[in-house]
Amino acid sequence: MRSSSFALATLALTLGQSLLGVDAAALDTRASGQQLTVNATPSKKSQFGVDLFIETNINSGTDGGLYAELINNRAFQVPAGAPTGNNALGQGTLASWSKVGASTSLDLTLQNPLSHALPKSVAVTSSAKNEACGLTNSGYGGFSVKPQKYDLSFYARSVDGKPTTVKVKAGLYSADRSRTWTEQTLTLQLTSEWKQFKASMTPTASAPDTNNVFSIKTAAGCGSGMQLNLVSLFPPTWKGTVARADLAQALADTKPVLVRVPGGNDLEGNSISAWFNWTNAVGDVKNRPGRIGTWIGWNTEGFGLLEMMDMIEKMGAQAVLGIYAGYSLDKKAVPKDQLGPYIESALNQLHFLLDTSGKWADLRASYGRAAPYKLEHVEIGNEDWIYNAPDSWPYRYPPFRDAIAKAFPQLELIASSPYSFQGQQAIDQHDYNTPSWFIDAYDKMDSWPRNGTKIYELEYAVINSGLTNDADIYSGKSRLQHPTLIAALAEATFLLGAERNGDLCHGAAYAPIFMNEVPGLTQWTPDLISFDAGRSVKSISYYVQQAFGMHRIDNIHDVKASTPPKQAGLFHSVGSDAAGSRITVKLVNTKSSAQSASVRLSGGGGKKVSAAGAQQWQLSGSNAQASNTMGQPNTVVPKSGALPAGALQNDGSLQMTLPPYSFTIVTLPLA
Ligand SMILES: *[C@@H]1O[C@H](CO)[C@@H](O)[C@H](O)[C@H]1NC(C)=O
Ligand SMILES: *[C@@H]1O[C@H](CO)[C@@H](O)[C@H](O)[C@H]1NC(C)=O
Repeated sequence: MRSSSFALATLALTLGQSLLGVDAAALDTRASGQQLTVNATPSKKSQFGVDLFIETNINSGTDGGLYAELINNRAFQVPAGAPTGNNALGQGTLASWSKVGASTSLDLTLQNPLSHALPKSVAVTSSAKNEACGLTNSGYGGFSVKPQKYDLSFYARSVDGKPTTVKVKAGLYSADRSRTWTEQTLTLQLTSEWKQFKASMTPTASAPDTNNVFSIKTAAGCGSGMQLNLVSLFPPTWKGTVARADLAQALADTKPVLVRVPGGNDLEGNSISAWFNWTNAVGDVKNRPGRIGTWIGWNTEGFGLLEMMDMIEKMGAQAVLGIYAGYSLDKKAVPKDQLGPYIESALNQLHFLLDTSGKWADLRASYGRAAPYKLEHVEIGNEDWIYNAPDSWPYRYPPFRDAIAKAFPQLELIASSPYSFQGQQAIDQHDYNTPSWFIDAYDKMDSWPRNGTKIYELEYAVINSGLTNDADIYSGKSRLQHPTLIAALAEATFLLGAERNGDLCHGAAYAPIFMNEVPGLTQWTPDLISFDAGRSVKSISYYVQQAFGMHRIDNIHDVKASTPPKQAGLFHSVGSDAAGSRITVKLVNTKSSAQSASVRLSGGGGKKVSAAGAQQWQLSGSNAQASNTMGQPNTVVPKSGALPAGALQNDGSLQMTLPPYSFTIVTLPLA
């Protein structure tokens, strides 16, 4: 992902032009539909899986999104304005906070800090003894209120250090204060020591919208003053993790194989001092300093290293762990003679996750996780082709690779350096482009060398419709707000190509996943899942990615097409499972008209396809530019069920009419 734009040439759409040179015989074949002859004997094994990439920070997708914390700026860390290189602790503001009571003052202070990590707190005082006093948080675009348990925690002391008792009510209210959704009374006996207070509350009904706030307030005065910090409110989370339930479930539903964490650009930080240092992202949240966001605000790192690993494990997936490789987004690299501590930190991180005994295993156990994690893939760096990163790459990459390979020879090391192959085990290359580019890329991997270097595409997305031929697809007019139907079909076409080359391409992941649609919280469009405080919407691209996860193949079957796929605008991938018990046919029709296709197995070793239990999954629509949005979440959603009667002929061939703009997957049992 590039955080600023530069010109990049788009490839011209060749589909229309290629028709010009076609001879009459080929046109005759097209007239009777596309004929696909599938070799019943697989040609190779596929390792291809659809993966996820959780690009932390961007679009408020982790803090404000996947991390279920509801209080925005819970420890007064969010700085003013857009993030800069300033990674100093204690620069935070009262962003998202406001006072309750006209005579109330909210004053940020560095006096008597809660912890070294969270040096700033708020002093809440009132000059009126019989007026309400307190503070309100506006959340990440309000609060969703449902009849479910909310867990509150905060730390408090008395402002002047002298004992004082303050009776407060903490709860969720409509923003206009006309409704109290839920409320708890707490009697705070405050002294000079910080104390943690906890309460839970359960509304009896849902609020009609998210136009709600959270407050801690009194009926009269604030005693001699309360100093507060780390104010936290959690709804029920996904499977005992810290993840927001609807968003994590949407991720799990794609059946990911690998999940790349943490960002992206956010792994690197906007300056070297803001890199993702894992030691600050483990343990009690009171001791996590966080760091300046790469895209927005401040990373609390509440969704920290173990929290990410736990969520990924509960999804039945494995992490691709991103390791900082000494280059940050201000285009500065750690000098060669200063790389040592970063390499050591990476090794310690891996010991912390993987060791079965010793000090790192003990540390992990002290944080509540005794067993080591299953982790087999590490990605060194992020986009090491970007800006001037390649200049320092030759001295930065080898020492990380060599040290990790020596200590953990079992790990697959993925390099983030696609343009300068140097015998890497694996590379991760990223593609952001137009629909025509992705459709044209259907066969781009067909001719790549099979020499041991594996390919990942752990960031891909159609980001520009291509309709205005923008010279710069990033900042041009046709930049997409949401994935469109043709964008999703172009991505599907690209994934068919990756899957057909699943011996070489081991995984792909759409990026970025999340977009918080509350104004001001998003920096990058389009995205896989949009959400606000209450709702989430799956894009058409989401359903495409999910379809690949639900219909994985183990073996690749070669196909002979009567008309070249690009000429027909009809793309395929055919595979079978390891046991040879079913065959899966995936077909994308990128045209605006219906197309007929026949699929026939040849050879076969006696196995026959059977109609009993045959399934079809299909996504289609009439408008290529349609999107799923908050207002219209179900514009294009897939349908699945039994294969329509008659599709499977008596001779075992499959006869299909593929709707305009469609992606169809047929699963046929083999007997
Ligand atoms: C990572 O953070 C820890 C704790 O703040 C610090 O001691 C260490 O020096 C940091 N590592 C690097 C390489 O900066
Ligand atoms: C594979 O081929 C590429 C492209 O020719 C080359 O740059 C790379 O070093 C090769 N990989 C290995 C492991 O030899």
